[in-house]
Amino acid sequence: MTVVLRVNRFAPRPARDRERSRKSSPFARKSSPFADARAARKPRGRSWVQEYEVQARGNDTLLDCLLAIKRDIDPTLAFRYSCGHGMCGSDAVAVNGTPMLLCKAKVRDCAHQPVAPIVDDAGFRRTSVDGEPSPVAETAKPVVELAPLPGFPVQRDLVADIDPMLEQIRRFKPYLQADGVLATTVDGKVDVFEYLQRPEQLARYERLSTCITCGVCEGACPVYAGGEAFIGPAALINQARFIDDSRDRARQERLEALDTADGFQACQSVRACSRECPVGIDVGEEIWQLIAQSKEQEA
Ligand code: SF4
Ligand code: FES
Repeated sequence: MTVVLRVNRFAPRPARDRERSRKSSPFARKSSPFADARAARKPRGRSWVQEYEVQARGNDTLLDCLLAIKRDIDPTLAFRYSCGHGMCGSDAVAVNGTPMLLCKAKVRDCAHQPVAPIVDDAGFRRTSVDGEPSPVAETAKPVVELAPLPGFPVQRDLVADIDPMLEQIRRFKPYLQADGVLATTVDGKVDVFEYLQRPEQLARYERLSTCITCGVCEGACPVYAGGEAFIGPAALINQARFIDDSRDRARQERLEALDTADGFQACQSVRACSRECPVGIDVGEEIWQLIAQSKEQEA
């Protein structure tokens, strides 16, 4: 079938021009102490929407379609991917407004028939009239709308800058802090450190350890989209993985570090973060469990 990919594109202004425009306004930098940080986070440039028609089968992924466009139609289209099968988390974008991975999104699930807009007497375009939805445009080709991952600054086309998420994850020591047990070989020599654990202890955090840091949960979170007021669900899931690990010795410090205004206190329990996690983590529930554990510790 023929599918139309409607892509929100963005071309950043060249660094040379940015520097020149900043110099032209001597007050811009002084007027706001956050001016530099904001400029770094929000690149300026040209935005436009471009449509591409591709031949695709229902079982093809949107990544397949974009690769076909890049190969045969427009080599300037920018998007990020690596593994191509849901392992690396590098290709999260907004598909029809919902964050998901390009390599997991199938054409048959995402392509929708565009509705024919109804223009009322006053000239306004409406999606329904008297409660009746607009009729589907029979002749139109199915459409998929693509945009960069929400909540992150865009770098180019569908490539978002995920550094803010990685910075927040790094802030909370994302590694095991454990005391190992010295194992000895049969002839009594010290061999390696062992970090022993029973299967049921492993089961407590195993699912969380499959997080691929794709940022889909962050893109879906309306609080995270609001700026730096929330460290975001991905950082919380990363910490929950260590808090639930019986070998980790920093459980208490981790819970205390997260119990802040920009930590889990900022979570509004919208639970949009749980809906599209590609590895099936119930992100909202895990954040709730963190809050419960913190309260238990205080009691
Ligand atoms: S919790 Fe799920 S959605 Fe969020 S970053 Fe990890 S894998 Fe992606
Ligand atoms: S390309 Fe690696 S997760 Fe999609």
